Amino acid sequence: MIKTILSATLALGMGTGAYAAGASEGHVENVDFSFDGPFGAYDVNQLQRGLQVYTEVCAACHGLKYVAFRTLADDSGPQLPDDQMRAYAEQYEVFDPELDDFRAATPVDHFPESNLENAPDLSLMAKKRAGFHGPYGLGINQFLKGMGGPEYITALLTGYTGEEKEEAGTILYENTVMPGGWISMAPPLSDELVEYADGHANDLHHLSEDVSAFLMWTAEPKLGARKQAGFAGVLLLTLLSVLLYLTNKRLWAPIKHKAKD
Ligand code: HEC
Repeated sequence: MIKTILSATLALGMGTGAYAAGASEGHVENVDFSFDGPFGAYDVNQLQRGLQVYTEVCAACHGLKYVAFRTLADDSGPQLPDDQMRAYAEQYEVFDPELDDFRAATPVDHFPESNLENAPDLSLMAKKRAGFHGPYGLGINQFLKGMGGPEYITALLTGYTGEEKEEAGTILYENTVMPGGWISMAPPLSDELVEYADGHANDLHHLSEDVSAFLMWTAEPKLGARKQAGFAGVLLLTLLSVLLYLTNKRLWAPIKHKAKD
């Protein structure tokens, strides 16, 4: 019985390696991120690389207004050493209403908002675009493979076909992931656009996955703690069930025993 349930669950979870999220939406492939699955955790080096891609490329247009610079030093995040985190913050200027002027950002400040009016803020984008893992809403895929937001971003960044068209004065780029097939963001990444200090692979795919992992962290900075709490909860409930079962047996034992006589 348990075996049947297990194999059915696994079949549901593993059956869809590649899938379309819906008829009108594009094709999103699964990516095996380090933070997927019930025991997954962020890869600190990947978060640092993703931060670099974000800083050198995406920040030109996008913002991360919900993310405070100090969190870049958190244990659950990219773990920048304190002095590097401070130096990183200082590269940004923020408007200080008390000074009525701009000043260098400090660790308590947040990343700026988007520079470009029609570029959405990316702090929570990995959650806004979650749910790209079929089969529709069963949840088992989310449990085993993660929630789909970072996969969506990776697919978006690598989903350009190279076709362009102009519509009402805006240039649109064909992208297989966008509902409708066109996006006004020019392809932001290309092979070797960002150079990593440690010489890590920097083709389009790696750059895309790294920045997607980083954006998953900005949207869900406490993922590890949440998974741990969840796991502890399940363990505790299991233990409680066993104890209740045994207590129940114990309590009823004399009565059941009598009935048999
Ligand atoms: C030159 C400016 C520019 C740069 C650089 C840029 N973007 Fe964008 N991005 C945009 C604009 C504009 C949109 C809105 C596009 C639309 O809705 O048609 C957008 C939209 C997006 C979206 C939302 C797509 C959706 O589902 O609606 C994501 C995710 C995104 N960008 C990620 C990134 C990442 C990651 C980078 C860095 C690797 C990046 N962008 C670099 C301008 C930019």
